Amino acid sequence: MNKIISTPKFPHILHGGDYNPEQWRTYPDILERDIELFKKANINCVSLGIFAWAALEPEEGFFDFEWLDQIIDRLYENGIYVDLATPSGARPQWLAQKYPEVLRVGENGQRNFFGHRHNHCYTSPVYREKVGIIDRKLAERYGKHPAVILWHISNEFGGECHCELCQEKFREWLKAKYGTLDELNHAWWSHFWSHTYTDWSQLRSPSWMGETSIHGLDLDWRRFVTERTRDFMLHEINTVKSVVPDVPVTANLMGIYCCELNYFKLGRALDVVSWDSYPDWHNDYCSDFIIARNECLSHDMMRSIKKRPFLLMECTPSTTNWRSVSKMKRPGMHELSVIAAIAHGADSGMYFQLRQSRGSAEKFHSAVISHTGTENTRVFREVAQTGSSLARLSDAVYGSEYFAEAAIIFDSETKWALDKIQGPRNAGLDYFGQVQTCYDWFFRNGVNADILDCESDLSGYKLIVAPMLYMFRAGIQDKLREFVRNGGTLITTAFTGVVNETDLCFLGEDTDEKLSDVMGMWVEETDGLFDRDFNTTEFNDKQFRLTRLCEVVHMTTAHSAADFEHDYYAGSPAITENRFGKGWAFHICSLPTQELMNELLSERDIELHLERALNVPLPKDVCAAFRMNGRQKIIFVQNFSQEPREVILGREYTDLITGAPCEKLSLSGYGYAVIS
Ligand code: GLA
Ligand code: ZN
Repeated sequence: MNKIISTPKFPHILHGGDYNPEQWRTYPDILERDIELFKKANINCVSLGIFAWAALEPEEGFFDFEWLDQIIDRLYENGIYVDLATPSGARPQWLAQKYPEVLRVGENGQRNFFGHRHNHCYTSPVYREKVGIIDRKLAERYGKHPAVILWHISNEFGGECHCELCQEKFREWLKAKYGTLDELNHAWWSHFWSHTYTDWSQLRSPSWMGETSIHGLDLDWRRFVTERTRDFMLHEINTVKSVVPDVPVTANLMGIYCCELNYFKLGRALDVVSWDSYPDWHNDYCSDFIIARNECLSHDMMRSIKKRPFLLMECTPSTTNWRSVSKMKRPGMHELSVIAAIAHGADSGMYFQLRQSRGSAEKFHSAVISHTGTENTRVFREVAQTGSSLARLSDAVYGSEYFAEAAIIFDSETKWALDKIQGPRNAGLDYFGQVQTCYDWFFRNGVNADILDCESDLSGYKLIVAPMLYMFRAGIQDKLREFVRNGGTLITTAFTGVVNETDLCFLGEDTDEKLSDVMGMWVEETDGLFDRDFNTTEFNDKQFRLTRLCEVVHMTTAHSAADFEHDYYAGSPAITENRFGKGWAFHICSLPTQELMNELLSERDIELHLERALNVPLPKDVCAAFRMNGRQKIIFVQNFSQEPREVILGREYTDLITGAPCEKLSLSGYGYAVIS
């Protein structure tokens, strides 16, 4: 396997982060001092200009680049590279004042005032024109600068606009998709409640003041918002690429938690996916190990979008400032959490923010350089230490591949549909939670897994888990059928394959559209359970609870591996298994608890022998993952407990940070090791 190089002009693990010198232009001493401190912190890359539009174009058509010239040159002279942003994430006052159409309109039809960031219409021709001008100027001036290794397109794309320009685009998009209103009315089932559309002009975005009952409209609006955002992003990408085709582009996404956009569609249009990770370490509701698990799930999803290394674009050096309580990262956690990202396929450890701003909304968000302006802080020392470790790992790790024999399907479009479900349970279906429940076993056992959507390529896996995949779209049935037929193992859970891509329920009992042939069964009815209710089943001589949803199914070719034990469906199957082609399909007729999912996965693994990071048991709160540098297996072992842990390796490895041989790892609290 070859290395996959994300930043060819500087092919090393990036260490640095968001730097906002435009806030400090009247403090020249501070700017000069920052560079000295960056070097001491082992920083090799800074993200510049993300919110600098007002400094770059203080008046319409009047540009001031000198300050940025100086900073980029000074950074480069000091061996620090630049991830240069297009400044479209926030617009200057003059732009919104002169051209109010650039501001967003809400669901209620009201235009926002100036303020916030990400408060602009992705359709507005004026906004696109002005963004195009500043982007082109930046590309012309800096694209060939040896310091500039990457484009940071805008910032955290998100949100939606309901202005008349967007409404018109939405209608065009629907016309192109459906051709006729008859097709649209059928796909949306809009004869329901007499909501039939008889003229294209009647179509509007969903709104709490208007239409909320047509689920097909809702889904298509979400798809349209993704498409609008992607189209705007491509406008920016094409602008910079038309000037400098060879500098790669990224945009910072927000992991699995942000599902308002279909990130797979956005991310596939980038050269490199990057994301901003802000886990809630040391909270009062779950362990750091569980937080790490959920965070690594996001890392895995970000990597899986393009099935290649991603960049950790932001994380905090210590605290955020936007949670109800912002707890500081305890000693060790900073480096450990950056290493967790690297373990799951990141080729960078980057932060928000390098220098803490002095005023306004983010003045208390932690930074590498705090208001004290000194290197003499714990956070600074931990950042410098992290940079030094990353530099040691860079040769072996940068560009190395992630190898996964298993995958979990998490489809944001199913999430959109479940959010509006109006079904057997409207509260607490917790699609994320289901995905996390499936991921837990992999994380605990050091088995790498990809996180895919319905459009992903499913070939090459031994095991695919598709929890609550309510919506079958993009031909996922055919891909899953082929996968099982060719010997794959598929695990599904309740409420899978219920509707098509416009939320129309599949008709018929035993149909291929629902994958009944592969599963060897079909669902007759689905019971909603209250939070305090549960059914039980005995599986592998152990008792398990079944919660929230329970399905009563008819088996055609499947067998029952475990039955429900209570209620009128006692004795009906709770887990089915079906031989199909050379593979197996398992279905849990409920939403499984963690214990049941882990049991089923452990049992399947006895057959499948999925490759693990280490073939020895991992102690409590310790996890492991691996990357492949050609044939070299690089293993990351991480202790998410505050207590020390020991791992007996069973054979000799080399510690890639110290270079020393090791047969045993003595990990300190929040310690880690990278071995090969
Ligand atoms: C986001 C943004 C940054 C900053 C951080 C604060 O990730 O991209 O500009 O606001 O949050 O945590
Ligand atoms: Zn708009």
